[in-house]
Amino acid sequence: MRTHTCGDLRISDLGKEVCLQGWVRFSRDHGGVAFIDLADRYGITQIVFDPEASSDVNSSELEEVMKTFTRESVVMVKGVVRNRVEGTEDARNPTGEIEVLIKEAELLNKSALPPMEVGDQKEGVLPGEDIRMKYRYLDLRRSEMIHAMEFRSKFMHLARQYLESQNFLEIETPILGRSTPEGARDFIVPSRIHPGSFYALTQSPQLYKQMLMIASMDRYFQVARCFRDEDSRKDRQPEFTQLDMEMSFVDMKDIQDMIEGLVAYIWKGLYGEDLKTPFMRVPYEVAMEKYGSDKPDMRFGLELTTLTDVVKDAPYEIFQKIISKGGIITGINIKKEYTVNQEIGRNEVDRYINYVKKIGMGGLTWMRAKDGTLDSNIVKYFTPEIIEDLKVKMDVQDGDLLFLLAGPKKATLEGAGTLRKKIAEDLGLIPADVHQFLWLVDCPMFEIDPASGKRDSFHHPFVLPDENYEGGSSFDLVLDGNELGSGSLRIHKPEVQRKVFELLGMSEEKMETDFGFFLDALSYGAPPHGGIALGIDRFVTILLGKDTIRDTIAFPKNKMGQSNLDSSPAKVEDSKLDELQIMSMAIDDLDFEDIE
Ligand code: AMO
Repeated sequence: MRTHTCGDLRISDLGKEVCLQGWVRFSRDHGGVAFIDLADRYGITQIVFDPEASSDVNSSELEEVMKTFTRESVVMVKGVVRNRVEGTEDARNPTGEIEVLIKEAELLNKSALPPMEVGDQKEGVLPGEDIRMKYRYLDLRRSEMIHAMEFRSKFMHLARQYLESQNFLEIETPILGRSTPEGARDFIVPSRIHPGSFYALTQSPQLYKQMLMIASMDRYFQVARCFRDEDSRKDRQPEFTQLDMEMSFVDMKDIQDMIEGLVAYIWKGLYGEDLKTPFMRVPYEVAMEKYGSDKPDMRFGLELTTLTDVVKDAPYEIFQKIISKGGIITGINIKKEYTVNQEIGRNEVDRYINYVKKIGMGGLTWMRAKDGTLDSNIVKYFTPEIIEDLKVKMDVQDGDLLFLLAGPKKATLEGAGTLRKKIAEDLGLIPADVHQFLWLVDCPMFEIDPASGKRDSFHHPFVLPDENYEGGSSFDLVLDGNELGSGSLRIHKPEVQRKVFELLGMSEEKMETDFGFFLDALSYGAPPHGGIALGIDRFVTILLGKDTIRDTIAFPKNKMGQSNLDSSPAKVEDSKLDELQIMSMAIDDLDFEDIE
């Protein structure tokens, strides 16, 4: 019905008769001459009502129609493209040199008074997230959100193009399935036909994609919706999207090469630039020791230094106690040059001490390098040799500030890693326009849960272990300190899979009930295979420089896992529950006799 979109018209269209349809973003009246910003997904075009310039139209009739053009109403206008008055051009808008002199107009659908501003936001004008989510269709009309949706769509198109060129089959796997252990709680769905039995919404297509390899599909991918009942965070949603892949007859490098090719192709498509590959490989142990994280952000310094050996003989009771229990001491050197713009004085140090306590650490010891030595209340416990050793290990110069953390190894390294990031953010050390990909490699097969002392999978139980069942074959793709994806080679022999289940403390019986079908599948000629899944929401969010994945998902859940838009989760009628043979009641209302 329209001849052009609201983003199309240029100076080369001068004099054309056009028909546009879109939303009334702004309107203003300049003494008889009225202007409308007409918007759609593609842009904004200025519409002008100028009775003096349009002798051939019935101005009063047109004026009456235009009075009904309230904000965000949908309208149709017909008119002629003309130059804007000199000096009123808008260089930021691609249609900013022209306007459409209106001759005919029609209100297609009147909008109620919008509860939020849709036009480009000035700082701080955006309403709270609850309003944005409740009226998400209005929020999505904002150019920033349109851009995010377009970017995400392009990202997916490029990914599909590349994978198709590499012989991948796009195959859909069930969403209603059996629980797969990805480490989160399941969303469960009751079966009406089989009362008392439940599906689990798949946490990932892990087992299905492995069975596709057994089925000889060779190369599979899926834009897979995954469901995990875990608390929402900035980078987590209860339902999210993976670019899920699996390949047969591959080693780790084959999978990593494929992903590097894929990411480089997407990069070129999005930015027109060549991405540097291969990505750096960082062993898990190094990532933890130097960055206190299994997803290290290496775009800035402030690396951690393990100092356990340096201070182990110092008669400082706190350190002694921690070391005797197998704990560690690690330190961060905040170099003088990092603080030229922002000094860290006593108050700031206190704030960092409070910060580390808040993130669960015992405390923080600090010292300043001054006059060639170290100034701190614990230095008296250090011999000159220890001080010298410490200075060399941490590359200390006068004016540097050292933070030391002590405690159990993993928690202390992770705490120091969190502190490292916080300091870098506070001091503005993280370059916003630099992206850095890396592979986290050499991960263990298992880890011990400190709370329960139980052995747990480091990644998941389908990772191919080394011959000692200690090292795993898993690896993560990390971008700017965020885990973008995880992959591994898989176990393809049933006896190895059984052994891993056994090491995880699974009984024979549970193995059979939960994974019998899969152990069976492995016994019918499973090829060596491996794969990876990339978190699309996170990937797109980082590339767009957004703070939360909620800003790149059209209809996300809020921090409490609810949708403000349709108020889900919601109660269902008793009749529906009856059909499922499910009873729901608040604990207070429980009458135990009833239940009997
Ligand atoms: P994993 O559980 O590591 O691996 O998930 C892969 C990637 O998915 C993203 N991701 C999430 N994104 C948003 N919200 C969430 N709640 C969420 N959880 C995970 C992350 C993560 O790196 N089956 C394996 C993959 C494999 O081995 O092939 C798996 O699901 O970016």
